[in-house]
Amino acid sequence: MSGDKITPETIRALKGRRRIAALTTYDYPMTRMLDEAGVPVLLVGDSLGMVVLGHPDTTHVTMADMEHHTRAAARAKPRALLGADLPYRSYDTPEAAVTNARRLVAAGAEYVKAEGGREILPQVKAIIAAGIPFMGHIGMLPQHILEEGRYHIFGRDDAGHAKLLDGAAALAEAGVFATVLELVTPPVAKEVTQKFPFVTIGIGSGPDCDGQILVTHDLLGTFPWFTPKFVPQKLRAAEQMKAAVADWMKAI
Ligand code: KIV
Repeated sequence: MSGDKITPETIRALKGRRRIAALTTYDYPMTRMLDEAGVPVLLVGDSLGMVVLGHPDTTHVTMADMEHHTRAAARAKPRALLGADLPYRSYDTPEAAVTNARRLVAAGAEYVKAEGGREILPQVKAIIAAGIPFMGHIGMLPQHILEEGRYHIFGRDDAGHAKLLDGAAALAEAGVFATVLELVTPPVAKEVTQKFPFVTIGIGSGPDCDGQILVTHDLLGTFPWFTPKFVPQKLRAAEQMKAAVADWMKAI
């Protein structure tokens, strides 16, 4: 990749050529640090609600929360492609989806992401027709945790497999540049990656996606009270921070 600003086209062109790293970000210093580390895709995820705002799940996140944190992240002016999640119930209709996607773009998002496949096809088409690049999200949809009851793997049985392929086909038809596959059984994640032109970005979906995304707090250990099993944690930052604070307290 050159040193130029990364766009959705840059990311799409990497499909089949090299693996794509993506991480979540929620504020200015984290965005600046991840950008300096060379991460090409950043997402102000609505995981914000859990790892920053202290809610039990993502259904509590509002448009105002997403705008506030997207503005903070965008102030870092990253070379990376910076996107933001449309929060819970903010894209119930195509009109609401476009209005709220435009609000996130005004806050600094260069693409938006929303959860669902065929069931949100009119919304996805309307967002893309408004000129806003779109990242899909299928498999486990955290905004549906109240109906699902738990986080679990998708695509294990025939019906689940067919629903994922149909969702992916709908997103491909709409013209998304990428799609997150969350907790999709690895053979199905591989099949979607091979069958569709968009970039697949896996989370807990095995090694055969075009890219991988993680919640940065999970990767770095800054939200130590819960870490999903699939996360290859690279740092236990909370332990180091607590030790540093204890050390300073001893010295005063
Ligand atoms: O909200 C989020 O952080 C996400 C990613 C983990 C895919 O949707």
